[in-house]
Amino acid sequence: MQHRVTLAINLSVLATNYRAVCDIAAPCTVMPVLKANAYGLGVAQIAHALVKAGAPRIAVAEPFEALQLLNLGVPVQILSGILPDEMAEMIAHDVVLPIVSVESAKQLSAAAMAQGKQATVHIKLDTGMGRAGLLWHEAAEALREIVTLPGLNIEGLFTHFPLAYESGSAFTLEQLNRFKQVLAAAQALGLSFRYLHAANSDAINNAPEACSSPFNLVRCGINLHGAFDAAGSLRIPLKPVLTLTTRLTQVRTLPAGTPIGYGHTYCTTRPLRVGTVCAGYADGLPLALSNRGHVLIRGTSAPILGRISMDYLTVSLEDVPDATVGDTVTLLGRDGMHEIRVQDWANIKGTHAYDIICSIGSRVQRTCC
Ligand SMILES: Cc1ncc(COP(=O)(O)O)c(C=O)c1O
Repeated sequence: MQHRVTLAINLSVLATNYRAVCDIAAPCTVMPVLKANAYGLGVAQIAHALVKAGAPRIAVAEPFEALQLLNLGVPVQILSGILPDEMAEMIAHDVVLPIVSVESAKQLSAAAMAQGKQATVHIKLDTGMGRAGLLWHEAAEALREIVTLPGLNIEGLFTHFPLAYESGSAFTLEQLNRFKQVLAAAQALGLSFRYLHAANSDAINNAPEACSSPFNLVRCGINLHGAFDAAGSLRIPLKPVLTLTTRLTQVRTLPAGTPIGYGHTYCTTRPLRVGTVCAGYADGLPLALSNRGHVLIRGTSAPILGRISMDYLTVSLEDVPDATVGDTVTLLGRDGMHEIRVQDWANIKGTHAYDIICSIGSRVQRTCC
């Protein structure tokens, strides 16, 4: 039995997007960020496709995600924090780990020494994200201690931007200055780093300074899926990777004066042919699409009427008179001349593309093509 709501993930478009990001980010290498199960899309096939496309390493957020990717044949790296009781297992599996404080460096050092190993680490600097890492103005002092610790293969230094979607952001430039000051202090201590990285998708598109010397690596998530943060501009020629479809389950004509859905937020003003579509907010459709969004049926736009329910929504079939039960309904993606993009939903909901992609429901069948 086929699932009603299906998310098709086009892996060859994903690989094309990866290469497009590489072209723009050059001379930096591009590390895909596949945390949270590749933003909820299904990490295994996406990771394999990206490694096949040339990705030399993969980043995730936490240990369970790292364990799922150990068979890829490329280094797997945790970006955020690491808890003391997670360290031994991650070191045993050669996962690249973040140092976010002197304390975490000491714990990693001890855990590595206990295994007679070197833990490969990247030092995370908080240059203005306010989330995690060595505070940039305390970093030189911290590095003096960290550099003395045994069992650490210090491979990278990195930071993260909160405002990189703002083209020419003065704050982002200030973060880069802070980073370079800490880098100079580290170099004065004799440290040299194989990888220096700061840019995410927003910065690759809006802060080219983060894709050039001294940086040699960028971390890219959302752009790989053909989506982007509409708060900023896009300089990479990306193609949408996702197509979300379902089926039409009922077609009927409602008389004038018929209210539709919870809350009766829509009422027909004339006899109207409508369709019931098998998808709702449990599948990830933003409630904000109620009375505002549309779907595509037979290459034609069909406006959503009334409030979206958990499993169903109602559309007007006024412009699709030949629609019948069982027809494919495109929720996201292209049908004929029309296309509905992740950003369109994000705009209507007043959110960003990450929220839309990560909210696609667990009962939606993900298929790679
Ligand atoms: C530290 C870090 N780097 C890079 C990324 C990738 O971001 P994006 O999906 O915007 O490319 C993230 C994701 O939030 C992140 O937390």
